[in-house]
Amino acid sequence: MSDGTPAGEAARRRTFAVISHPDAGKSTLTEALALHAHALTSAGAVHGKGSRRGVASDWMEMEQARGISVTSAVLQFAHRGQVLNLLDTPGHADFSEDTYRVLAAVDCAVMLIDAAKGLEEQTRKLFDVCRHRGIPVITFVNKWDRPGRDALELMDEIESEFRLRPTPVTWPVGIAGHLSGLIDARDPERMIRYTRAPGGEKEAVEETYPADRAAGEFEEDWATARDELALLRETGAGHDPGDFLAGKSTPVFFGAAISNIGVRLLLDAVVDMAPPPAARELEAGGVRPVDAPFSGLVFKVQANMDRAHRDRIAFVRVCSGVFERGMTVTRAATRKPFATKYAHSVFGQDRSAVETAYPGDVVGLVNATALRVGDTLYSGQRAVFPPMPTFAPEHFAVVRPVDIGRSKQFRRGIAQLDEEGVVQVLVSDRRGDQAPVLAAVGPMQFDVVAHRMEFEFSAAVRLESLPYGTARATDQEGAEALSRSRLVHGEGMRRVRDGTWLGLFPSKWHISSFQREFPGSPLEPLIAAHQ
Ligand code: G4P
Repeated sequence: MSDGTPAGEAARRRTFAVISHPDAGKSTLTEALALHAHALTSAGAVHGKGSRRGVASDWMEMEQARGISVTSAVLQFAHRGQVLNLLDTPGHADFSEDTYRVLAAVDCAVMLIDAAKGLEEQTRKLFDVCRHRGIPVITFVNKWDRPGRDALELMDEIESEFRLRPTPVTWPVGIAGHLSGLIDARDPERMIRYTRAPGGEKEAVEETYPADRAAGEFEEDWATARDELALLRETGAGHDPGDFLAGKSTPVFFGAAISNIGVRLLLDAVVDMAPPPAARELEAGGVRPVDAPFSGLVFKVQANMDRAHRDRIAFVRVCSGVFERGMTVTRAATRKPFATKYAHSVFGQDRSAVETAYPGDVVGLVNATALRVGDTLYSGQRAVFPPMPTFAPEHFAVVRPVDIGRSKQFRRGIAQLDEEGVVQVLVSDRRGDQAPVLAAVGPMQFDVVAHRMEFEFSAAVRLESLPYGTARATDQEGAEALSRSRLVHGEGMRRVRDGTWLGLFPSKWHISSFQREFPGSPLEPLIAAHQ
């Protein structure tokens, strides 16, 4: 229970994200988790499609129109005496850089899989990010109320494609589409039978059947489920906390978020299995323990969340110590003091002032114009967390204002979007700053730029895509050499955000031609969005 010390409070925090391919049911599950934690009185209030669509998480018009979640929100709720922080991740691959930043702020991820579709492209990419960051993953196989794949086959797929041993904690009685109930592998002599509440608005009613009753009513389905579980046990698929935390295995749960089936067990698993916040590595080596003075990581900066206020919020994950509203902290990048007068918890449009926050919590600092993604804030002994990586862009476009009379708004908007990390902004003497080049991991980032430039900064833009598909880090000479190259139609530019010189190439096949022409030029690969 709470003792008010940073270490005691950290121990009762679970900070996690749900990752999935769009449409696998992330919003539905988020809502179902909140419902089970009694953070909501009925499902359908936070998010939903169709008539229920869009209250909190989808605040941006474009998101609503497209049915994707571009921006993230943080939902905090209590369950069994623990405090859970659920961070929303953008669903689309084009925003994987954003996803990476959010995953830098969590201690665990729930990987959601659609029972019918199995491992989808985006599931793979997001899983790669988790692996890269060493985040333990709990798997939830969703939509078991609909016809879908074979459960054992799905386990094989997770094992072979992710090199991650699935350790089922719950197992379905009945094939996908005929879900009679679940077996909790820790108590396999019983079956949990669910009665769905109308519309899935309330928790499903759970009833426990002893083995003989389950066998009597669900004969073959019960026998099959038990055989499959026995088979899995023989192959050593029991949950092993050490392997899970080391990213070698994933506990698996089955259910149907829409009907709240299997959701309580998943929520309990987050409390029981997900790791609490731990000491965080510092850039200079060593770690910042959770009970050290306050430190926090800025993992997201977002402007204009509230149109009425035209503000800018920096989302900070508390890594150590206690955050108290109004405290003055130091921004590591400049060593300058930063006052935290306006601290909020933010979920969609809802904000409430945060007075105190502990390791694992996320606070939104309003009007934090000085802060950038990747910044460390601290009090007491200096702390600097490793920088957030910038991903290799694969799409490039020149951006210009439609109305040159609005070039002031244009410049301000582009600078703002660069600082938020919406896109990377590249410049060169040759092009001048009237027409910078935008570089993106996925083309939908350009749509966000165009939309926000027009509606937030009143500077509609024209984008003209460039015929490049890959970039390498180089130096100024390398960049100039590339712009002069006779063999390769490429270009050298400087990234505004960190001053890195980039060589832009039509494709990676052109890189060796350039190296033959200018053997002295350094070319370093950038971090691929998906490794
Ligand atoms: P996302 O955030 O991952 O994109 O997914 P979302 O929750 O919006 O769910 C995508 C679709 O899948 C929705 O249907 C939702 O109702 C459905 N869904 C989610 N969980 C389950 C489940 O456990 N079983 C079944 N059968 N369906 C599920 P939709 O048709 O797009 O919207 P709606 O009109 O049903 O709300």
